[in-house]
Amino acid sequence: FPGAERFLPDSHDLGDLVEAARTCRGCDLYKAADQTVFGAGSPGSTIMFVGEQPGDQEDRAGKPFVGPAGRVFDRALDAAEIDRELTYVTNAVKHFKFTRAAGQKRRIHDKPSRTEVVACRPWLLAELDAVAPRIVVCLGATAAQALLGSTFRLTRHRGERFDLAADGDVGPDYAVDVLATVHPSSLLRGPSDKRDRAFDEFVADLRMVRELLQ
Ligand code: URA
Ligand code: SF4
Repeated sequence: FPGAERFLPDSHDLGDLVEAARTCRGCDLYKAADQTVFGAGSPGSTIMFVGEQPGDQEDRAGKPFVGPAGRVFDRALDAAEIDRELTYVTNAVKHFKFTRAAGQKRRIHDKPSRTEVVACRPWLLAELDAVAPRIVVCLGATAAQALLGSTFRLTRHRGERFDLAADGDVGPDYAVDVLATVHPSSLLRGPSDKRDRAFDEFVADLRMVRELLQ
């Protein structure tokens, strides 16, 4: 895998990144997906959310978190009184990875490999540079491992604050807080009482993020 690095423009202006990412061939995922789904939101947002990768609906729309996971994410943001319009939302991997059951049209989400996450990471770091948020919220283990290393365990480190700059090898040259919570799609699985509790815990994490910024 060559990785995305050689497709990055010199400028880290958000518009230039979006444009350049459209033709990225840093790994094989561009081949089967419809389009690159880059992050959305304004540079200067104080919160940057990082998901895993676009899903079926995101691939069609070209926008992150617009499908079922996006709808539960929106509900949680509302409950935590965070305006999505004032945040930047992206994914660790910018192309939809999927499989198809034999003879079926439906595209089933397939988890990106570590290699694909690493291949795509230059885009994520460039977005971080362009947006310069005060806090990065990783939604799920894939995003957390992309920024905090492959040994990161969500069960152990959920809600804990990390300093990206302190890590040295990955990240911008200024201090930015990073923390991880669950992926919104995890709130769509399991029996309803368990789902309700998981939703409330997710909202509590988002409220904590909002309070950290005050
Ligand atoms: N899941 C993600 O991680 N990102 C999206 O954009 C949609 C679903
Ligand atoms: Fe490039 Fe990332 Fe798409 Fe791979 S997933 S082709 S690295 S944008």
